Amino acid sequence: MKITFVGHGYVGLVTAAVFADFGNQVFVIGHTKKKIEGLRRGIVPFYEPGLSELVKKNIDAKRLTFTLDYAPAVAESDAVFIAVGTPPTKTGDADLSTVLQVAEQIGKNLEGYTVVATKSTVPTGTNKKVQRILEEMKPAGAEIDYASVPEFLREGTAIADTTNPDRVVIGTESKRAQELLIKLHEPIGAPILLTNFETAELIKYASNSFLALKISYANAIAKLSEAVEADALKVLEGIGMDKRIGNMFLSPGPGYGGSCFPKDVKALISIAKDNDYAFSLLSEVEAINHQARRDIVRKARKLLGDVRGKKIGVLGLAFKPNTDDMREAPSIDVISMLMNDGANISAFDPKATESAKEALPNISYVDNVYEVANGADLLIVLTEWSDFMEINFEEIKKRMKALNIIDGRNIYDPEKLRAMGFNYVGVGR
Ligand code: UDX
Repeated sequence: MKITFVGHGYVGLVTAAVFADFGNQVFVIGHTKKKIEGLRRGIVPFYEPGLSELVKKNIDAKRLTFTLDYAPAVAESDAVFIAVGTPPTKTGDADLSTVLQVAEQIGKNLEGYTVVATKSTVPTGTNKKVQRILEEMKPAGAEIDYASVPEFLREGTAIADTTNPDRVVIGTESKRAQELLIKLHEPIGAPILLTNFETAELIKYASNSFLALKISYANAIAKLSEAVEADALKVLEGIGMDKRIGNMFLSPGPGYGGSCFPKDVKALISIAKDNDYAFSLLSEVEAINHQARRDIVRKARKLLGDVRGKKIGVLGLAFKPNTDDMREAPSIDVISMLMNDGANISAFDPKATESAKEALPNISYVDNVYEVANGADLLIVLTEWSDFMEINFEEIKKRMKALNIIDGRNIYDPEKLRAMGFNYVGVGR
C-alpha cells in the first residue's frame, strides 16, 4: 500500500517507519527544511531507541521518503495520516491550528479514493471539522473516507508498542475505509476495535487519563503510607496482584509528565466542561500530580533545614528514561521550586541535557553521576535511568558534603544505603 504521514514527531515518524518496514511505500511530509533534509540522511530529531536504525533501513530499501511537498505524496496514497502536534493552549484545550492547516493542504492534493485518518490526539468533534475542510478543498473527482486511528505508543518503547500494541482502534463508519485500514494493520496481528469517530477519539483521552489516574492513586497511597508507616511499594504490589487492577502504572514518584498525560487529562476535563460535565475526579488527579512534585521539595527542605545556599545534585531530568524529552518533566517543577528557595543545582541526565537547557538555563550540567555528587548536600533521583541503578555509592559517599538522598523513583535499597550512612528518603517507603 502507499501511505503518507503528515508530521514526523514520535507518533508520525515511528508509525511511518514501522509501516514502511512492513513493506508499504511510505511518504512523510514535514514543514521544516532542515529537519526533512536531516531525516533523508536518517537523522532523527529526537532520541528513541532503535528508531534511527529502522528509519535508515527503510530509506535504503526505498520504502521511506521524506518530503516538504504534499504533491505527489497525497495524490498517490491510499491512506493519509495526520500525525501533527496538538499542544495545549493556555486554557488547557488542544491547539488544533496545525491539524486544520494540514487538512487544507491534504484536501487540495487528493486524487481518486483516499482514506484520511487522524492519529493526532484531538478532542471529540474535531474530526467533523477536519472532514468538512477536506470535503471543501478536495478537487472534483476525489473521493474520501475519514477515520480516527488513535496511537497508544509510549516514548522509549515506541517501536515495540507500535509493532505489538494491545489493540488497534479504527474509528470510521465507512466499510470501505474499515477494510483498507484493517488490511494495513494486518501485519500487527493485534485485536482490532471498530468504532465511530467520536468513540475512537474518546478512547484515546479516556485511556491516557485512566493511566494518569492510576499514577495519582499510587502517589496518594504513597503519601498515606508515609503517614501511617506502611510500605507503599508493598501496598501497591498487593493491590496490583488483583488481576482486575493490574500492577502497571502504579509506581509512585514525582508525578507523571511528558507530552501526553498532562495535556490529555487537561483536555478531557475541558471536553467534559464544554459538555456541562464537571470531571472533578480528573481535577483531583492533576492536583495529586502537582502535590507529588511539591512533596519532593518538602522532603528536601526537611532534610536540609534551609535549602538556601545548599548544593543539590539531581540525577535524571527527562520525564522518563530512554528519552530526551523534557516536556512537562517533573524535574522542571522540582528544580524551579528548589532554585526559588535559593538552592544551587547541578544535574546529570544521560540523554536530556541539551533539551533541558531551554527550560532550565540556570543550573550546572555535569557529565556523569559522580560529578553530580561533588560537594553536594543532597542528591535527588528524578528519572529512573538504568545507568543510575549501578552507581558505586562508596565513591558517591567520598564526594558528597552531606549524605542525604531523596530517591524520587524508589530505585535504591533503603536499608543498604542507610547502612552506609545515608539519610535515605524514598516515596511512600
Ligand atoms: C503515554 C501513554 O502510556 C501512551 O499510551 C500514549 O500513547 C502517550 O502517553 P508516554 O508519555 O510516552 O506514553 O510515557 P509513559 O510511560 O506512559 O509515562 C508517562 C509519565 O508517567 C512519565 O512521567 C512516567 O514517569 C510517569 N509514570 C508512569 C509514573 O510516574 N508512574 C508509573 O507507574 C508509570
